Amino acid sequence: MCGIIGCVNDEAVAPILLQGLKRVEYRGYDSAGVATVSESVIRVTKAAGRIDDIERKYGLSTLTGTTGIAHTRWATHGGVTDRRERVAIVHNGIIENYLELKKQLRAKGHIFKSETDSEVIAHLIEAEYRQAKDPVKATILAAKKLKGQYAFAALFQDAPELITGARKDAPLLIGVGDTKNFIASDVLAFIEHTDRTIFLDNQEVVKVTNRSVEIFDMNGRPVRRKPTQVAWELADLSKMDYAHYTLKEIHEQPKTVVSAMMQNEEKLAEFVEKIRGARSVFVTAAGTSYHAGLLLKYRLERDAAIRCEVTLAGEFREHSEFVDGGSVVIALSQSGETADLLEAIREAKKKGAKILSLVNAAGSTLARESDLTLLLNCGPEVGVAATKSFTAQVVVANLIVDNLVGSGNGGGEEVARMVEEALSSEPTVKEIARMYRERSDFYFIGRGYHYPVALEGALKMKELSYIHAEGMAASELKHGTLALIEEGTPVVVINPRGETHADTLSNAEELKARGARVIGISDEPSEVYTHFIKIPRAKESLTPVLEAIPLQLMAYWTAVEKRNDPDYPRNLAKSVTVK
Ligand code: F6R
Repeated sequence: MCGIIGCVNDEAVAPILLQGLKRVEYRGYDSAGVATVSESVIRVTKAAGRIDDIERKYGLSTLTGTTGIAHTRWATHGGVTDRRERVAIVHNGIIENYLELKKQLRAKGHIFKSETDSEVIAHLIEAEYRQAKDPVKATILAAKKLKGQYAFAALFQDAPELITGARKDAPLLIGVGDTKNFIASDVLAFIEHTDRTIFLDNQEVVKVTNRSVEIFDMNGRPVRRKPTQVAWELADLSKMDYAHYTLKEIHEQPKTVVSAMMQNEEKLAEFVEKIRGARSVFVTAAGTSYHAGLLLKYRLERDAAIRCEVTLAGEFREHSEFVDGGSVVIALSQSGETADLLEAIREAKKKGAKILSLVNAAGSTLARESDLTLLLNCGPEVGVAATKSFTAQVVVANLIVDNLVGSGNGGGEEVARMVEEALSSEPTVKEIARMYRERSDFYFIGRGYHYPVALEGALKMKELSYIHAEGMAASELKHGTLALIEEGTPVVVINPRGETHADTLSNAEELKARGARVIGISDEPSEVYTHFIKIPRAKESLTPVLEAIPLQLMAYWTAVEKRNDPDYPRNLAKSVTVK
């Protein structure tokens, strides 16, 4: 959820920590903290606000010391403090037994300064360190006592040459440089310095100095693991000339849908064979990835005649009665770190199912715990709202189904051209955003294959513009929601030519008769639409990609009109690594 970074450098570490924090800003936060150790003092600065503002106010980059840790997080208060404590930590996750541990530590004389579960980790390590006099041993002993999910990095007052880290059910990565090494929750925190990465496994502990990285299991036994090179280019991280990452990522889609289509043929064939050979097929995901999962289900059933259940990741356990050794579970995720999803696949694994996944972040926990993974290849998605990862998921899902039925999937060039054409709707969409920015409600409707896109349009609108939005099957309107339609209510009708076109058009007429402003997204204009957003005519399987683009732009431009920050919507985090 939050971003954490630790670094041991051979010169001042604070500027590197700050740069890393800015890279993980997209994960969502309302405050940040930095701690460095120098001359036997751990100096901690934490404050609410944006990193740039905190830096201006407290001059974080001038903190001395070559070893330090930092985090972005929600709801931290405070200013600058010189700490005489022996240990400081940054933590991602939730410690379930912190009240119990706090009680025990208080009884031993520890004084707590906050109500956070994280502070317990620092006191626990400190208590163990007093006995063991060894940072690694202390980290292991402390980690063994923690229940819940965690990824943390620890800084020691009297061992300024190192940091330690540990993880359980929350991601922790090691960045291996030449003169500096890192521990971080996200590869983007250190990618400017090194692309050599080690993904720490669950219940492992690491010790990092500026020249060495040592990994241990929970019994203190050394673990050998070589770094892998992460392919995300540094260039991908700049906003270029765009005002926001979200806009840049929306505009990248002509390129990213093509790179997503470039799958290793053998791997794709193996993936397809596993689905073909399964007794039952389940799909699971959260948020936007769930909407892509609904599209995959539609195509598997309609085109490949393979029955498929699709379940929200957070609901999977309650609906996994029929998952067994003959099942295949397909998990979709941009981050590969969504806690609900990881819990779902672990549950499925326990029942003997094979896990297939579609993931953007190579090396993520989902990718590592899957039997087989197809990567989305759309590059880092920094904007909190999923955009290019959704369209990448749709084209990879299409590849899978097209291979199952033995049909060709069309050339990348043609797909890129159509996506480009869909993007040319931007001036119309921008005007619509300006006209409806003050509305309190938005509705999105579609039928069949277009219904999940209506859900996705509403989700984008909610998270970026903060306007209440509902996506629904067009057929459902008359079962209740029609009562909410009044003069001027904007309703987006997703309705390209095809078998559902006529029925959806008649729903649009019903809406118009009740005063709605109907915003039609289609390859076919109609008088019923108050506004018409034209998308190119395409075969059905590609329509969700073309429909999603104006919907992403509409949410983006409404957010901009309302002066929201589209890259960092309030209360949201890019990777939801807690339940
Ligand atoms: C919506 C959004 C979220 C994610 C969801 C799943 O724009 O970004 O709804 O789609 O949290 O995340 P991943 O795909 O990383 O598992």
